[in-house]
Amino acid sequence: NNYCVIMAGGVGSRFWPLSKKQQPKQFLDILGTGKTLIQLTFERFASICPVENFFVVTNAKYKDLVLQQLPQIKENQVLLEPLRRNTAPCIAYANFKIQKRNSEASIIVTPADHLILNETKFLDVLGKGIKFVEDGNQLLTLGIQPSRPETGYGYIQVSNKAVTNNSDIYPVKTFTEKPHLDLAKIFHESGEFYWNSGIFVWKLKDIQEAFSRYLPDVKALFEDGIDSLDTEGEQAFIDQIYPECQNISIDYGILEKSENVFVYCSEFGWSDLGTWGSLYEHSSKDNNDNAVQGENVMMYESKDCLVNVPDDKLVVVQGLKDYIVVETDKTLLICRKRDEQELRKIVNDVKITK
Ligand code: GDD
Ligand code: MG
Repeated sequence: NNYCVIMAGGVGSRFWPLSKKQQPKQFLDILGTGKTLIQLTFERFASICPVENFFVVTNAKYKDLVLQQLPQIKENQVLLEPLRRNTAPCIAYANFKIQKRNSEASIIVTPADHLILNETKFLDVLGKGIKFVEDGNQLLTLGIQPSRPETGYGYIQVSNKAVTNNSDIYPVKTFTEKPHLDLAKIFHESGEFYWNSGIFVWKLKDIQEAFSRYLPDVKALFEDGIDSLDTEGEQAFIDQIYPECQNISIDYGILEKSENVFVYCSEFGWSDLGTWGSLYEHSSKDNNDNAVQGENVMMYESKDCLVNVPDDKLVVVQGLKDYIVVETDKTLLICRKRDEQELRKIVNDVKITK
């Protein structure tokens, strides 16, 4: 009964210039493991979900990338969006594909670009999470102990009473997606909040119910064409309704509003690899705390830098502290590490993601 939905339609703009519109970070071997992030994601869930129960939802232009990188899955498991409408429509589409196969399904929804260091623990949490949602009607998200006031995440305030048969699962009191820095600081200091990992577990029935309640228009658009799903007319139908779909994330659309959300608080070595800084944190470093990726890099009097350049490029860095240096075929980025959130804006200016 287990299904897995991999959301893989984002652009990863804060990983520019390596991540770009033609090849976003989920399709890159960012960690240097020989596998791309989406391949690592697929493998992580393959032991709890049969291969035929995976769906990858992505932009139409990444279809070939997905099929090349995940040869295990079939073409009809790759759901293609004509344009970006954020994660709520992406999940709604997958819901109806699953509904046609198994109305009793339990679903894990996951981003395609996260790092999980302790996979054994993670699988244990997921197993217990699935059991929890199967026994009730709750929506479950995995929560992470925060380490800094980060504005890019959802913040979850937990109620102080855990559910009876699992002391790590709590009812969610409040859910605040991407708070401003002032609020994020207050949340962080209070010690009452967890980050939302963006990994969800729920039964098909219960998430469909939540869509009916909080995003009925999004749900209705897909529901109207349910007969065309799995037929030749599917793509034409999807291409027609997508532009009409509300552009909204599942976090703003459902998790912030629903009173039926629970959080599984656990530690399994999570990072969303959202920025160069998060890669820096997870990379091995030299004696001066530089993380150097590239075979021909010479570092002089530099500290706390991340350098990521092609192996065949001779790169010399002298006298830099706390900088990101990234070079690709056509682009060179030199950016202060502490200002890395600016990359979102900068990328817009460069119009590289157009
Ligand atoms: N198919 C599809 N279509 N996928 C999408 C789209 C879309 O339009 N937009 C984003 N995605 C994919 C991304 O590729 C990523 O794998 C996942 O959905 C989450 O989207 P992000 O854009 O990375 O979300 P976020 O990082 O800003 O916020 C989410 O994740 C945080 C943790 O990393 C939220 O769930 C936050 O609450 C959470 O803290
Ligand atoms: Mg993200």
